[in-house]
Amino acid sequence: MESIKNKLALITGATAGIGKACATIFAQNGANLILLARRENLLNELQQRLQSEFGVRVITLVCDIRNSSEVKKSFSSLSEEDKKIDILINNAGMARGIDKLQDGLVENWDEMIDTNLKGLLYITHEVLPYMIAFKKETAHIINLGSTAGHEVYPGGNVYCATKFAVKAITKSLRMELLEHQIKVSTVDPGMVETDFSYVRFPDDSTKAKNVYSGITPLVAEDIAEAILFCATRPKHANINELVITPTAQASSNFLVRK
Ligand SMILES: NC(=O)c1ccc[n+]([C@@H]2O[C@H](COP(=O)([O-])OP(=O)(O)OC[C@H]3O[C@@H](n4cnc5c(N)ncnc54)[C@H](OP(=O)(O)O)[C@@H]3O)[C@@H](O)[C@H]2O)c1
Repeated sequence: MESIKNKLALITGATAGIGKACATIFAQNGANLILLARRENLLNELQQRLQSEFGVRVITLVCDIRNSSEVKKSFSSLSEEDKKIDILINNAGMARGIDKLQDGLVENWDEMIDTNLKGLLYITHEVLPYMIAFKKETAHIINLGSTAGHEVYPGGNVYCATKFAVKAITKSLRMELLEHQIKVSTVDPGMVETDFSYVRFPDDSTKAKNVYSGITPLVAEDIAEAILFCATRPKHANINELVITPTAQASSNFLVRK
């Protein structure tokens, strides 16, 4: 097992859910962190807590990952040393609605594509040149895909498309970075109870809550542990793809509810 102690990890979408759980478990294991998200107050709270609880260094970047110039500006605000990131966790992501295509809203499609797909590209584009130049020995990109990137479901059209795209980008990157021996992984959860469904159905909290009714969903910590597992494999071993679902869920739309 490789240690992540003193490594530098950049986590996107660190203010909630899986990203926040990941920040906590990485700090607990001694990694220094760059945390990126839009909600400054939540970033600051997390920074204070992780620094005082675990004695690691935490930098925050208030940034909307959908905006390419904001991503560029945020990354360039880091010192040259802090641009040399060991582990990039591309976690920021979201879904909006579950409409059939003819009923879908263009603004929802834009938001999902801009966040889950273009945002991931923007930040990876900034980080990679530094990984290739300075961090080949330790570099690792871990993307958050989804079971929605393995099989579609009705109403999942655009969200599923973004996660299929994450899978395509992960596979392509793995090939492109082979010559540099940079690790690339995708961690693909099924149902995890986070703010995800509340973001998906912002006007209907009952609908959001019902997503998890009658099953025991995964929790953010389950996924954070899996991400830590990927990040701590020995140098010769790369986890290409890890699919994790609740025991009650066998595929995107096939589950048993009590
Ligand atoms: N929960 C599930 O069931 C599930 C299943 C499969 C895959 N996933 C994937 O797991 C990842 C994390 O989801 P989660 O469940 O942890 O959701 P969550 O609790 O809603 O957290 C999403 C995080 O992403 C950040 N974010 C969203 N849009 C952003 C933007 N434009 N710029 C910067 N940060 C942004 C949010 O921070 P701010 O609002 O502060 O910016 C928040 O920290 C996503 O990629 C999601 O697709 C989730």
